[in-house]
Amino acid sequence: MSLQKASFAGRTVLVTGAAGGIGEATARMFASRGAWVLIGDVNPAAEAVAADITKNGGRALSVRCDVTNGESMAGFIRQAVDFAGAVDVLVANAGIAEHKGPIHEMDMDHWQQVVDINLTGVALSMKYGLKQMVDQGHGCVVALGSILGLVGQAQSAAYSASKAGVTNLVRSAGLTYARQGIRINAVAPGYVQTPLTDGLDDSVRAQMLARQPMGRLGHPEEIAEVICFLASDAASFITGTTVSADGGYTAQ
Ligand SMILES: NC(=O)c1ccc[n+]([C@@H]2O[C@H](COP(=O)([O-])OP(=O)(O)OC[C@H]3O[C@@H](n4cnc5c(N)ncnc54)[C@H](O)[C@@H]3O)[C@@H](O)[C@H]2O)c1
Repeated sequence: MSLQKASFAGRTVLVTGAAGGIGEATARMFASRGAWVLIGDVNPAAEAVAADITKNGGRALSVRCDVTNGESMAGFIRQAVDFAGAVDVLVANAGIAEHKGPIHEMDMDHWQQVVDINLTGVALSMKYGLKQMVDQGHGCVVALGSILGLVGQAQSAAYSASKAGVTNLVRSAGLTYARQGIRINAVAPGYVQTPLTDGLDDSVRAQMLARQPMGRLGHPEEIAEVICFLASDAASFITGTTVSADGGYTAQ
């Protein structure tokens, strides 16, 4: 089967949390399809990703940014505009896993950290990215939700709550900007092989695999493809929704 991939030539794409995992795969995919890519992360490993994309003929810049900090996010958007003149696509991908456990034993500092990065981080990315998109009259946001924002899972309070927040945040944002040429959606991945899932202990990983209808984890590129689709003109009638890419997990 031959699939024509959308071109992002001349478009500027910002990806938060792109030093590794799904964000890195997404940045590389957009760059391979012609985009100017800005890689924002707290992790200095983002520099090596940008350097490698550039070495392979792409256009990329790494920017140290913290999605929980408004000044940092405003600076990230400013650098994108200085670098390429616009913010055509913003992928709000940065996120962390949580220490699982029952709610009555929850460490509220950890709750706050998960919500700050996974939900407030998406809202702050949108706040500054959408200001630029409104000024330029077009744009597209893709946020990273999760299957755990769509279905329940025991022992997963903060992560599930933060990702369910992303699902409804994109609904509200999609409606707010629907008449301004700006589309806002989310992707809800199932379990994907990345540093985030590599960091889980063996029993949690075994449980994850047992629940996977396809009997395997996803690859970061399988999520990046969906993000690229939602950011492309092929998705011109899609806004305010969350698309699952989960190997059938939420069909169970
Ligand atoms: N891997 C999975 O199975 C899975 C499943 C569902 C959803 N997701 C979501 O996909 C996204 C990417 O996950 P991943 O598996 O690639 O994770 P990952 O840990 O491989 O990458 C996350 C990146 O976010 C960065 N980051 C963390 N805090 C940040 C901050 N405050 N500011 C900027 N960057 C920050 C990290 O440095 C890292 O590079 C996350 O939002 C995650 O919740 C992942």
